Amino acid sequence: MSNEISGKVVRGNGFGRKIGFPTANVELAKNSQRPADGIYACWVKIHPDSEPGSESRYMGALHVGPRPAIGDVVPTIEVHILDFAGRDLYGQQLSLQLVKRLRDVKNFDSMDELKAAIQKDCEEVRRYFAAS
Ligand SMILES: Cc1cc2nc3c(=O)[nH]c(=O)nc-3n(C[C@H](O)[C@H](O)[C@H](O)COP(=O)(O)O)c2cc1C
Repeated sequence: MSNEISGKVVRGNGFGRKIGFPTANVELAKNSQRPADGIYACWVKIHPDSEPGSESRYMGALHVGPRPAIGDVVPTIEVHILDFAGRDLYGQQLSLQLVKRLRDVKNFDSMDELKAAIQKDCEEVRRYFAAS
Protein backbone atom coordinates (compact mmCIF):
# COMPACT_ATOMS: atom_id res chain seq x y z
CA MET A 1 0.00 0.00 0.00
CA SER A 2 1.12 3.56 -0.47
CA ASN A 3 -1.16 6.39 0.49
CA GLU A 4 0.16 9.85 1.25
CA ILE A 5 -1.65 12.33 3.47
CA SER A 6 -0.59 15.67 4.88
CA GLY A 7 -1.67 18.22 7.41
CA LYS A 8 -0.78 20.57 10.19
CA VAL A 9 0.22 19.53 13.73
CA VAL A 10 -2.41 20.67 16.23
CA ARG A 11 -2.65 20.35 19.99
CA GLY A 12 -3.81 17.01 21.43
CA ASN A 13 -4.63 16.52 25.10
CA GLY A 14 -1.05 15.71 26.04
CA PHE A 15 -1.92 12.29 27.41
CA GLY A 16 0.40 10.48 25.00
CA ARG A 17 3.35 12.20 26.60
CA LYS A 18 2.31 10.87 30.02
CA ILE A 19 2.29 7.26 28.84
CA GLY A 20 5.68 7.67 27.17
CA PHE A 21 4.42 7.88 23.58
CA PRO A 22 3.97 11.52 22.65
CA THR A 23 2.08 11.96 19.39
CA ALA A 24 1.73 14.70 16.83
CA ASN A 25 -2.00 15.20 16.21
CA VAL A 26 -2.56 15.97 12.54
CA GLU A 27 -5.33 18.14 11.11
CA LEU A 28 -5.82 16.63 7.70
CA ALA A 29 -5.29 18.95 4.71
CA LYS A 30 -8.34 19.43 2.48
CA ASN A 31 -6.78 17.60 -0.44
CA SER A 32 -5.89 14.52 1.66
CA GLN A 33 -8.18 11.55 1.82
CA ARG A 34 -8.88 10.21 5.27
CA PRO A 35 -7.41 6.69 5.59
CA ALA A 36 -9.52 3.85 6.98
CA ASP A 37 -9.41 3.58 10.78
CA GLY A 38 -6.48 1.54 12.05
CA ILE A 39 -2.84 1.55 13.09
CA TYR A 40 -0.22 1.95 10.37
CA ALA A 41 3.52 2.03 9.74
CA CYS A 42 4.40 5.23 7.90
CA TRP A 43 7.19 7.52 6.83
CA VAL A 44 6.92 10.97 8.39
CA LYS A 45 8.30 14.03 6.62
CA ILE A 46 8.54 17.23 8.60
CA HIS A 47 8.44 20.45 6.60
CA PRO A 48 9.88 23.10 8.87
CA ASP A 49 8.45 26.58 8.18
CA SER A 50 11.77 28.16 8.93
CA GLU A 51 13.88 26.06 6.61
CA PRO A 52 11.90 25.21 3.49
CA GLY A 53 13.42 22.37 1.55
CA SER A 54 15.32 20.95 4.51
CA GLU A 55 12.76 18.32 5.36
CA SER A 56 13.76 15.21 7.27
CA ARG A 57 12.26 11.75 7.22
CA TYR A 58 11.42 9.53 10.20
CA MET A 59 9.64 6.26 10.85
CA GLY A 60 6.22 6.62 12.45
CA ALA A 61 3.49 4.59 14.16
CA LEU A 62 0.19 6.14 13.09
CA HIS A 63 -3.22 5.97 14.74
CA VAL A 64 -6.35 6.80 12.71
CA GLY A 65 -9.80 6.69 14.30
CA PRO A 66 -11.58 6.96 17.64
CA ARG A 67 -9.78 6.19 20.92
CA PRO A 68 -11.98 3.74 22.83
CA ALA A 69 -9.18 3.07 25.33
CA ILE A 70 -9.52 6.61 26.65
CA GLY A 71 -13.28 6.85 26.04
CA ASP A 72 -12.97 9.28 23.13
CA VAL A 73 -15.28 8.74 20.16
CA VAL A 74 -13.97 11.71 18.18
CA PRO A 75 -11.62 10.32 15.54
CA THR A 76 -8.04 11.58 15.47
CA ILE A 77 -5.04 11.16 13.22
CA GLU A 78 -1.94 11.05 15.39
CA VAL A 79 1.56 9.80 14.86
CA HIS A 80 4.29 8.74 17.26
CA ILE A 81 7.54 9.65 15.52
CA LEU A 82 10.32 7.16 16.20
CA ASP A 83 13.79 8.37 17.21
CA PHE A 84 12.60 11.96 17.30
CA ALA A 85 14.14 14.20 19.91
CA GLY A 86 11.01 15.92 21.14
CA ARG A 87 11.20 19.26 19.33
CA ASP A 88 7.94 21.24 19.38
CA LEU A 89 6.06 20.55 16.15
CA TYR A 90 2.89 22.56 16.74
CA GLY A 91 1.82 24.42 13.61
CA GLN A 92 4.24 22.59 11.30
CA GLN A 93 3.27 20.63 8.22
CA LEU A 94 3.77 16.88 8.15
CA SER A 95 3.34 14.50 5.30
CA LEU A 96 2.74 10.86 6.06
CA GLN A 97 3.27 8.02 3.65
CA LEU A 98 1.31 5.02 4.88
CA VAL A 99 3.14 1.85 3.97
CA LYS A 100 1.56 -0.94 6.02
CA ARG A 101 -1.60 -1.43 8.03
CA LEU A 102 -0.70 -3.12 11.30
CA ARG A 103 -4.02 -3.68 13.10
CA ASP A 104 -7.48 -2.38 13.99
CA VAL A 105 -8.06 0.25 16.69
CA LYS A 106 -8.87 -1.60 19.93
CA ASN A 107 -10.24 -1.01 23.37
CA PHE A 108 -8.02 -1.89 26.33
CA ASP A 109 -8.87 -2.59 29.96
CA SER A 110 -6.01 -0.49 31.28
CA MET A 111 -3.53 2.18 30.29
CA ASP A 112 -0.75 -0.38 30.77
CA GLU A 113 -2.30 -2.54 28.06
CA LEU A 114 -2.65 0.46 25.71
CA LYS A 115 0.98 1.35 26.37
CA ALA A 116 2.14 -2.23 25.74
CA ALA A 117 0.18 -2.32 22.45
CA ILE A 118 1.74 0.94 21.23
CA GLN A 119 5.18 -0.37 22.24
CA LYS A 120 4.56 -3.48 20.18
CA ASP A 121 3.34 -1.38 17.21
CA CYS A 122 6.60 0.60 17.31
CA GLU A 123 8.63 -2.61 17.33
CA GLU A 124 6.66 -3.84 14.36
CA VAL A 125 7.28 -0.56 12.51
CA ARG A 126 11.04 -0.94 13.07
CA ARG A 127 10.97 -4.55 11.92
CA TYR A 128 9.01 -3.63 8.82
CA PHE A 129 11.41 -0.89 7.76
CA ALA A 130 14.48 -2.95 8.62
CA ALA A 131 13.23 -5.69 6.30
CA SER A 132 12.15 -3.43 3.41
C1 LIG B 1 0.77 3.56 17.45
C2 LIG B 1 -0.46 3.97 18.20
C3 LIG B 1 -1.47 3.04 18.42
C4 LIG B 1 -2.63 3.39 19.12
N1 LIG B 1 -3.60 2.46 19.31
C5 LIG B 1 -4.73 2.79 19.97
C6 LIG B 1 -5.77 1.82 20.17
O1 LIG B 1 -5.72 0.67 19.71
N2 LIG B 1 -6.86 2.21 20.89
C7 LIG B 1 -7.01 3.47 21.40
O2 LIG B 1 -8.02 3.74 22.03
N3 LIG B 1 -6.03 4.41 21.21
C8 LIG B 1 -4.91 4.09 20.51
N4 LIG B 1 -3.94 5.04 20.31
C9 LIG B 1 -4.20 6.42 20.70
C10 LIG B 1 -3.81 6.72 22.13
O3 LIG B 1 -4.91 6.44 22.95
C11 LIG B 1 -3.43 8.21 22.17
O4 LIG B 1 -2.25 8.39 21.46
C12 LIG B 1 -3.28 8.73 23.55
O5 LIG B 1 -4.52 8.71 24.17
C13 LIG B 1 -2.70 10.16 23.57
O6 LIG B 1 -3.55 11.11 22.98
P1 LIG B 1 -3.11 12.67 22.89
O7 LIG B 1 -1.98 12.78 21.93
O8 LIG B 1 -4.36 13.39 22.39
O9 LIG B 1 -2.69 13.09 24.24
C14 LIG B 1 -2.78 4.71 19.63
C15 LIG B 1 -1.75 5.64 19.40
C16 LIG B 1 -0.61 5.29 18.70
C17 LIG B 1 0.46 6.30 18.48
